[in-house]
Amino acid sequence: MTKVLVATEKPFAQAAVDQIADIFKEAGFECTFFEKYNGQDELIAAVAETEAMIIRSDKVTPEVLNAAPNLKIVVRAGAGYDNVNLETAAKNNVVVMNTPGQNSNAVAELALGMMVYQARGHFNGKSGTELCCKKLGIHAYGNVGKLVAKIAKGFGMEVFAFDPFVEKADIEADGVTVFNTVEELYSTCDYISLHIPANEHTVKSINYDLLASMKPDATLVNTARKEVIDEDDMLKILEEKPGFSFVSDIPPVQREIMEEKYPERCFFTPKKMGAQTAEANINAGKAAANQIINFINKGDITFKVN
Ligand code: 3PG
Repeated sequence: MTKVLVATEKPFAQAAVDQIADIFKEAGFECTFFEKYNGQDELIAAVAETEAMIIRSDKVTPEVLNAAPNLKIVVRAGAGYDNVNLETAAKNNVVVMNTPGQNSNAVAELALGMMVYQARGHFNGKSGTELCCKKLGIHAYGNVGKLVAKIAKGFGMEVFAFDPFVEKADIEADGVTVFNTVEELYSTCDYISLHIPANEHTVKSINYDLLASMKPDATLVNTARKEVIDEDDMLKILEEKPGFSFVSDIPPVQREIMEEKYPERCFFTPKKMGAQTAEANINAGKAAANQIINFINKGDITFKVN
C-alpha cells in the first residue's frame, strides 16, 4: 500500500479532506492527514515512511526531503511551488508537481474583494470610491490574472495587462489591452494586481522605481508572494505618496510598521486566504490525489515541474 501524507499546516476544508480520503481509499492507497503541525521538526519527523506527499504552502526543504528516503512524489495542491527545494528533490529522484488553475478562481475573487475593501475605506462608514471605470493593471496573465480580468470587467473596470510569456493576441482576445513594458502598466493604472511567481528574476522586482511611477492615489494588490516586493522601497513610497495604498494577502515581513503608520492605506490578511475556499481546496486537493495515483500506477508525469 502506497503511503501518502497530506501535510497541510493550513488544513483543507473538511469537504476536501473527505473527498481526498475517498479517492485514496478507492485506489488502495494509505492516506494520513497531518494538519496544523508546529514547525519543520514535526514535519521532518512525520515523513520517515512517506512515499507521496500533498502539500500547500508547506516548506519542503532539503531536510524534509532527506528525512523521507521512500519519497517518490510531492504534489503542491496549488500553483506556486517556490516552497519546495527542487534541487534536492531532483537529486533524491523525487518528482514535484503542482495543480495549475485549480485554485485560481478563489484567488481572483479575493483580489477583487481586496480592491473593494480598500476602495470602501475598510468598511469604515465614510464615503469611498468605486471600481467602475478605474484602470486595472494585471501583472502576469496566467490562470489567476485571466480570471481577475474577467471579474474586473464585470465591475466595469478598464483592464490592462503585462506578460511577456503570454501571446499578446491571447490576452487581447479577452478584451484586455496589452502593454509591452511593465513601466507602462504601472504608470497608467489606478490598481495593479500582482500575479507573478517568486523566483530569482522576480524577488524584490517591485521596487522603488516601479512604485514611484504609479499614480499618487494608486493601489497595489498582492495575492502572489510577499518576496516579490521590496518592502523598504514600499515603506518609502507609502511615506512619499500620501494617497497610495497597499493591500496584500501575504502579510509582509514589515507588516506591523506598515499597519501602525498607515492603518487606512494598508491591509493584510492574517494568513494567506487566497485559496482558502472549499471549492479551491476540493479542486486542488482532488487533482493532487489523482496526480499521485496516476504517477504511482502509470508513471504519468503531467504537471511535473522539476
Ligand atoms: C498557490 O500558490 O496556489 C496559492 O498561493 C495558494 O497557497 P495555499 O495553498 O497555501 O493557500
